[in-house]
Amino acid sequence: MLSRDKMPAHIGIIMDGNGRWAKMRGLPRIEGHRKGAEKAKEIIKAAIELGIETLTLYAFSMENWQRPKNEVSMLMSLLEMYLKKELNAFIKEGIQFRAIGEIWRLPEKIQSIIREAEDKTSGNTGMTLVAALSYGGRNEIVRAVKKAIYSGMDVESITEDSFSALLDTAGLPPPDLIIRTSGERRISNFLLWQSAYSELYFTNTLWPDFSKEEFIHAISDYQSRERRFGAVPSRET
Ligand code: IPE
Ligand code: IPE
Ligand code: MG
Repeated sequence: MLSRDKMPAHIGIIMDGNGRWAKMRGLPRIEGHRKGAEKAKEIIKAAIELGIETLTLYAFSMENWQRPKNEVSMLMSLLEMYLKKELNAFIKEGIQFRAIGEIWRLPEKIQSIIREAEDKTSGNTGMTLVAALSYGGRNEIVRAVKKAIYSGMDVESITEDSFSALLDTAGLPPPDLIIRTSGERRISNFLLWQSAYSELYFTNTLWPDFSKEEFIHAISDYQSRERRFGAVPSRET
């Protein structure tokens, strides 16, 4: 059972393992990505039902541009189809959609769907759904440094708060919980600055096999942990 008053406000998910899921079945990798996109829909729905305020899905990393051309172009077509199809659902569900990353690198058509989705959902008050696309944590930090310099920001006014406001995630709370599927135990350049005190949940389940039940299990595991943020547990003070 989940405790209502200890729900993570922000969950980030590194949706990994689509390729291996397909390979195990003798299918082309893109079939794994298709299944993964379906799974994303299911988990978004579950997150809304659970009352999660912000859900960030890592869908395509900066480094993923180095994959074979053919996989990248199939992923882009899938992304385009997905966003086109889901936009109405986002509106209906009251989702606020937001994309983070170097969006300008994406095909023009996808950029315009993203702009449309952000515009049409900006007044919504439901869950914030953040899509990390062409995203890399180091790249985001470097871009924030450049913004600070170009805007002529006074060096003394650079603080953790003012710097956070220059990141793509400006205004969002840091992730309380980061889930990574597929058995890899690494962050792979996801939300580097923002994950300073995130709780991490790793599972061997491949992303297409992830389920609402396991999502709830991950949240329940999170709720059983003691977050200390570098302090001494309150009962010992
Ligand atoms: C995650 O699945 C999706 C993306 C990175 C786009 P992978 O494609 O990385 O799947 P594996 O890790 O090869 O199994
Ligand atoms: C991380 O998965 C990126 C996404 C899930 C979008 P990768 O498959 O790209 O990460 P590595 O290469 O295993 O670290
Ligand atoms: Mg992978």
